[in-house]
Amino acid sequence: MAQLRVVPLAALLLAILLCGVEATVRELKVGYYAETCPEAEDIVLATMARAQAREARSVASVMRLQFHDCFVNGCDGSVLMDPRPGMEGEKDSLSNINSLRSFDVVDEIKAALEDRCPGVVSCADIIVMAARDAVVLTGGPNWAVRLGRDDSLTASHNDSDNIMPSPRANASALIRLFAGLNLSVTDLVALSGSHSIGKARCFSIVFRLYNQSGSGQPDPNMDMAYRSALDTLCPQGGDEEVTGGLDATPRVFDNQYFKDLVALRGFLNSDQTLFSDDVRTQRVVKVFSSNQDAFFKAIVEGMVKMGDLQNPKMGEIRRNCRVANFAPVAPKEVVADRVLDF
Ligand code: HEM
Repeated sequence: MAQLRVVPLAALLLAILLCGVEATVRELKVGYYAETCPEAEDIVLATMARAQAREARSVASVMRLQFHDCFVNGCDGSVLMDPRPGMEGEKDSLSNINSLRSFDVVDEIKAALEDRCPGVVSCADIIVMAARDAVVLTGGPNWAVRLGRDDSLTASHNDSDNIMPSPRANASALIRLFAGLNLSVTDLVALSGSHSIGKARCFSIVFRLYNQSGSGQPDPNMDMAYRSALDTLCPQGGDEEVTGGLDATPRVFDNQYFKDLVALRGFLNSDQTLFSDDVRTQRVVKVFSSNQDAFFKAIVEGMVKMGDLQNPKMGEIRRNCRVANFAPVAPKEVVADRVLDF
């Protein structure tokens, strides 16, 4: 009998102990900050609008952060952390280095929120609100975002390298990657429609212009006139930091991206492959190219689902999105004479 009592007690103690490390999944909800920071969503929108007025592209760059944050161990603001001794962080990973941008806009939002309601709104939630606002500010649909995320204490360079897809990826690899996170083929195609806004570098497409799959030839799935325009923008051996629009209307959130894919005018290989290489994704691209409302409905669903990816580890509300509140310091060196004191 006594032994029977000991087992549940030990299990309980273990559970309490583990709680400190693994938090249960947070319940996200619409209007999460209604009591604690009622102006939060207005502050985010106003700051995004100011950023857009300064530089039109910046809102697309902030929207992209949601993808790079949520795919790597859940939406936890890890992508925003600066490298520090002992933690490389995600900013310098393969997909992010020299590519992710507009972190300063997130800083500006965070500063405004800390001013109004200190220590309340997480950086992870800022990304999710700001990504929605990027869509709204460029003419896309509006939706209610679910909030209440924690910020991570760390970020992982390796996980980012291992997870984030390359612009060379083909449709079947992308379907697999998204399926692993419970995102459907429709989610994949709709979320790729985020490339309705923003720009990419020649660096991301020179292989498909001059050496697709090591063939020494361009990707055959390209409209001739478009290819020659891209050849001019991104000549072989030229400056790979030069940028081009991801679709024909890179400041407007619309279904032009899908019309471009059907016309073999996709910018990235990972975009064009959705139309050219797989019937499952092609079917959805065709629907979205002729029905903008269907695209808008699906991207809202996709953004909400992507925003639901959570990091189960215990987190915090960071005061500064770039660093953990109590960043672990490198262990102090043992001072010899102090050891000798004993
Ligand atoms: C499906 C797999 C995806 C791949 C392979 C991919 C890849 C890329 C690449 C290579 C760039 C340009 C980077 C550069 O040249 O510096 C880019 C830009 C962008 N991506 Fe994606 N992406 C994907 C999905 C997504 C998703 C799901 C979102 C949703 C938030 C998204 C949002 C964006 C935006 C808005 C830009 C433009 C950013 C700017 O102008 O700064 N992407 N993406």
